[in-house]
Amino acid sequence: MRRIFVPAVTLVFLLLVFLLCISKAPAKEEDQKADKDKGYVGAEICQTCHAKVYDNLAKTSMGVLFLKHPQNADQKLGCETCHGPGTAHVNSGGKSHAGQIRFTQGTTTPASVQDGVCLKCHQKRERLFWDGSPHESHGITCVKCHAVHTGPGAMARHQLTRLTVEDTCATCHKEQVRAEMKFSHHPLREGKMDCASCHNPHGTTSDHLIRGLTNKELCFSCHAQYRGPYIFQHPPVMEDCFNCHQPHGSNFPTLLKAPVERLCRECHVTFHTPNFAVNRGVRIGIMVGGACINCHRNIHGSNNFNGGPYFFH
Ligand code: HEC
Ligand code: HEC
Ligand code: HEC
Ligand code: HEC
Ligand code: HEC
Ligand code: HEC
Ligand code: HEC
Ligand code: HEC
Ligand code: HEC
Ligand code: HEC
Repeated sequence: MRRIFVPAVTLVFLLLVFLLCISKAPAKEEDQKADKDKGYVGAEICQTCHAKVYDNLAKTSMGVLFLKHPQNADQKLGCETCHGPGTAHVNSGGKSHAGQIRFTQGTTTPASVQDGVCLKCHQKRERLFWDGSPHESHGITCVKCHAVHTGPGAMARHQLTRLTVEDTCATCHKEQVRAEMKFSHHPLREGKMDCASCHNPHGTTSDHLIRGLTNKELCFSCHAQYRGPYIFQHPPVMEDCFNCHQPHGSNFPTLLKAPVERLCRECHVTFHTPNFAVNRGVRIGIMVGGACINCHRNIHGSNNFNGGPYFFH
């Protein structure tokens, strides 16, 4: 019994080795040889001189995949997935950057080539309209906002160049970020929203990179109650919320462009004065606080036949 068992196991073992030899192993060697022919050297060689960069990258979602668990041929190139073939660079001891793609300040790699590297894998969904977008057309590359291995946000969600979305945008759009610090504002500093709640920085079909076909549609996506249709409509509301509001912050309550009375008077010049209120037996002081909207409460539109035409209810 034992005497048959040993040769049988040996035979099975040899068969397995043979199968492995003719299938997997040579294919892998061929892959590597093909990569070498194209000038790729593999991440282990880069690691010898760039150990810290290597370790940092290994902690990010891309690093985990590219360096440890590649899912496809592109990812398997490791560092060279993004930086291009490194043979010339390695042979020169790091002095030459021939054939390399570089993303740092002063790089000679054109913006479109840098972005092309990222878009090869990230073009879908959010970045469908990148080409021709305000950022793309002004040479704002992906890595002006994203850090792959250096930068405060490199280890955070979305790998931004700064820790938060606002801080990232603030490097170029100080005015809008500062506006969010005003008395009335969307809850950005409270952490409930960020600039990207309303904007898609990667490109949209709409103006101003907003996440909606129009400004109004954007507002309705969170403030649906003002969509209407109302039986009694207030024309400026139907036209554009920014007839009265401003998006980024205001020193007046509820993001208004001006104090209520001044705001209404921009369009309603020939109307009753505060005295009118006294005549009606309502005591003075009615214009204090909410001013016109003390009475005209439903200023965005009304469905109430009793006072609706004047937006009382
Ligand atoms: C023999 C050591 C060595 C090896 C191996 C090496 N590098 Fe470098 N690398 C350097 C040195 C030195 C610099 C700095 C040169 C400079 O400042 O111009 C550098 C700079 C770089 C830069 C920075 C360019 C910039 O934008 O400033 C990149 C990117 C880079 N290497 C990528 C790689 C990749 C990818 C590999 C593997 C394919 C690799 N390196 C392998 C030594 C090496
Ligand atoms: C996903 C694309 C990508 C991969 C993969 C990648 N890099 Fe980079 N690399 C970048 C970008 C983008 C920059 C510009 C700085 C930044 O965003 O962190 C950069 C900058 C560098 C720099 C110069 C700046 C610095 O931090 O010193 C070196 C050196 C470098 N990479 C080496 C490597 C090495 C080594 C690997 C592999 C371990 C690698 N890179 C993998 C995209 C990549
Ligand atoms: C070979 C394909 C490939 C390339 C090239 C590539 N990425 Fe990635 N990237 C991925 C994959 C896969 C992930 C991890 C899965 C995921 O989170 O979507 C990822 C993750 C990311 C994330 C994190 C997503 C999140 O929500 O946290 C950012 C940001 C990112 N990549 C930006 C870039 C930038 C910028 C470049 C160019 C310098 C680039 N990528 C190049 C495939 C790639
Ligand atoms: C102007 C700044 C900016 C630029 C330029 C930019 N991004 Fe982003 N990106 C962001 C912000 C902000 C987020 C987070 C979005 C969110 O919270 O919804 C993000 C999210 C991402 C994500 C993760 C979420 C997702 O959409 O899958 C990926 C991947 C990404 N960007 C890739 C890219 C690539 C590739 C480019 C270049 C073609 C690029 N980004 C250019 C600001 C930018
Ligand atoms: C590196 C600089 C830079 C960063 C960072 C940056 N932007 Fe921009 N942004 C620009 C430039 C340049 C333009 C085009 C010129 C202009 O309209 O001001 C632009 C245009 C825009 C526009 C369109 C303006 C218009 O009038 O149509 C919006 C919206 C915008 N950026 C939002 C953002 C948001 C949100 C962020 C953060 C996620 C951000 N940007 C980060 C430089 C930047
Ligand atoms: C509540 C939604 C909302 C938020 C949050 C928001 N924006 Fe805007 N943003 C808009 C709208 C809507 C416009 C278009 C205004 C117009 O049509 O005049 C705009 C316009 C812009 C413009 C173009 C110039 C201008 O001021 O009209 C820039 C730049 C911009 N936003 C950047 C930012 C940045 C940076 C943040 C984060 C601090 C941010 N936005 C947050 C809705 C928003
Ligand atoms: C991504 C969701 C979102 C979008 C889009 C949005 N908002 Fe808001 N808005 C909010 C949240 C959340 C609040 C805070 C509500 C609260 O505190 O109860 C708010 C509050 C407001 C307030 C009251 C502010 C105050 O100081 O009381 C006004 C006015 C306003 N939004 C107008 C707009 C306009 C106009 C638009 C379109 C440009 C818009 N919003 C788009 C989420 C959004
Ligand atoms: C005719 C001027 C005017 C226009 C146009 C206008 N609003 Fe208002 N809105 C106001 C006034 C005045 C207030 C303050 C009401 C109050 O305090 O009772 C207000 C308050 C708000 C509030 C905060 C109160 C709440 O319900 O949380 C939101 C949100 C709002 N408006 C959204 C919108 C949206 C969305 C649009 C565009 C469809 C719009 N507004 C158009 C005048 C206007
Ligand atoms: C951008 C211009 C504009 C602003 C700002 C504006 N309105 Fe109007 N409002 C109109 C127009 C246009 C009508 C329709 C007038 C008509 O049909 O004769 C109207 C109608 C009205 C009506 C209905 C009575 C009527 O004559 O049909 C009342 C009440 C009213 N507005 C109050 C206000 C109040 C209160 C404010 C300030 C919160 C305000 N409006 C801000 C343009 C504006
Ligand atoms: C004390 C309550 C009250 C206050 C405060 C008030 N209104 Fe009125 N408003 C009314 C009443 C009641 C009517 C209907 C008048 C009528 O029956 O002819 C009216 C009618 C209107 C009309 C339509 C008729 C016209 O005169 O054109 C407009 C526009 C209007 N108000 C705007 C305003 C504005 C703007 C303010 C703030 C400066 C304001 N109201 C403050 C009660 C008020």
